Amino acid sequence: MPTAKVALRDAEDLLKGSDAIEHPHAGKELADAEELLSFVLGLEEWDEDLTLTHQELWSFKRLVARRARGAPPAYLTGRTTFRRLVIHVGPGAFVPRESSEFMAHQAVVRLRSRKHPVHLDLATGVGPVALAVASAIPRASVFGVDLYASPVRQAKDNARRLALPNATFFRGDLFRPLPADLRGSIDVVTVHPPYVGKREMRDLPDEIVRFEPEESLTDYSRDGLGLLGRVVEEAPRWLRPGGWLLVEVSPDRSRSVATVLRRGGFDDVRSTKGPVPVSRVVLGRA
Ligand SMILES: C[S@@+](CC[C@H](N)C(=O)[O-])C[C@H]1O[C@@H](n2cnc3c(N)ncnc32)[C@H](O)[C@@H]1O
Repeated sequence: MPTAKVALRDAEDLLKGSDAIEHPHAGKELADAEELLSFVLGLEEWDEDLTLTHQELWSFKRLVARRARGAPPAYLTGRTTFRRLVIHVGPGAFVPRESSEFMAHQAVVRLRSRKHPVHLDLATGVGPVALAVASAIPRASVFGVDLYASPVRQAKDNARRLALPNATFFRGDLFRPLPADLRGSIDVVTVHPPYVGKREMRDLPDEIVRFEPEESLTDYSRDGLGLLGRVVEEAPRWLRPGGWLLVEVSPDRSRSVATVLRRGGFDDVRSTKGPVPVSRVVLGRA
């Protein structure tokens, strides 16, 4: 039986040769292979001379083959890490991205000085941003909303598993399922909307469009600003005066999103850049 080192090297070679996945930077294929091996072994670390059992090798090769066909690692292992929280995610829901950690951080910075912080995460998916805020500020009341059953079910399971009773998830369209008494009391609204325009969907990598739910990527509008327009229109009724709206978007969209916020009456609008270059957080104050 091969050692972990040999199995990883073979897996890396296979992934490097795959046309079905992106190759964004050197070392990505090895990182994916290590994530899959960690899952199979049930270990965070191992000795590279560790000899795999027949069963471990078979399971690992099966997962690597599925990854080579495009399946996101998080769907294969059923989990991902977000601000040190292990978040469970499966098919039917958007896979939380490292880039969204910056929006969670921006929310925490604005909430932690409040005596009774209230946070709403719209389009919450499996809840990474809401759960990260609920974990960082246990006294905060955190609400997450998603239109679809599968992400909401997964978000509720995550809150239970992570023992975060201060995170509550609702299914529905944007602000619609929220209790009326939240009006005018929310300190921070975060949203990572589906912002890919309908026609741009064909430009997305295969490993995204073939696996993640279409409705988590596009709002079916021409410019990808349809859902956001509705958020900007309704948010001032739910935010307290001086409360913040935080929107995660791609860098090429940050200017148009900032314009939508300004036209919607938000003040102090600006675009902020986190450590991961693929996204920006546009901020505005009610
Ligand atoms: C880009 S994903 C972001 C998910 C999560 N916030 C994250 O960063 O991992 C967009 C999410 O918006 C949800 N969504 C789409 N239309 C919606 C609507 N009208 N109201 C609430 N959620 C919606 C999708 O189901 C999807 O989970």
